Amino acid sequence: MTDETPAFYNDLDAAYAEAWRLLDDGVTNAKAPFHLPAVATIGRGGDPRVRTVVLRASDRAAAWLQFHTDRRSPKVAEIEAEPRLALHFYDRAAKLQLRVRARAQVHGEDAVARAAWDKTRAFSRVCYRIDPAPGTPVAAPDGYAEPAPEDPDVGFETFRVVRAHVREIEWLYLAGQGHRRALFQLGDGAYTASWLTP
Ligand SMILES: Cc1cc2nc3c(=O)[nH]c(=O)nc-3n(C[C@H](O)[C@H](O)[C@H](O)COP(=O)(O)O)c2cc1C
Repeated sequence: MTDETPAFYNDLDAAYAEAWRLLDDGVTNAKAPFHLPAVATIGRGGDPRVRTVVLRASDRAAAWLQFHTDRRSPKVAEIEAEPRLALHFYDRAAKLQLRVRARAQVHGEDAVARAAWDKTRAFSRVCYRIDPAPGTPVAAPDGYAEPAPEDPDVGFETFRVVRAHVREIEWLYLAGQGHRRALFQLGDGAYTASWLTP
């Protein structure tokens, strides 16, 4: 142990708290590496699909993480067919990787979507008005339209909140004096924790 050894180095509860501290910070701090997780789904043909999203909300007590997307994007159909989701976070400065396994719920045109929509800015809402739908082949690179935001509610219909209910967090902390790996399994408002060989 050195003076720089963090309190969570040999402490599972402190490691769990640190994981959520960094997730919460990833929501509010746009410069934090945890702001941009990679989210993996299972494609309709069974192949893995992964993409970057913006982490928009977190709730440690209820154990969920949230991002926004467009109903018409393929990931929504993938999640509706198979709600198992994996999220990957890596903070180089913190020397920490989190692999989160979750079960996703898609919210559209409900109270969860409305609350999230009300917090989005006008320029973000433009994404949800794009025409044709995201991922549509177009003849030219600019062969799509983003209608001007005269009506602040246009786009709400296609706006979706994906709430990822966290089932497992796998923690990997890199340290010269010995890496630390742990598994947190969540359920019924509590978690169990165990160390793993790194
Ligand atoms: C920095 C960055 C942030 C992104 N944030 C989001 C996001 O929050 N939601 C989203 O649907 N797509 C986001 N994207 C685009 C996705 O990575 C992806 O290209 C797009 O959603 C299509 O994914 P799909 O075809 O698997 O549905 C982001 C891309 C980048 C590079």
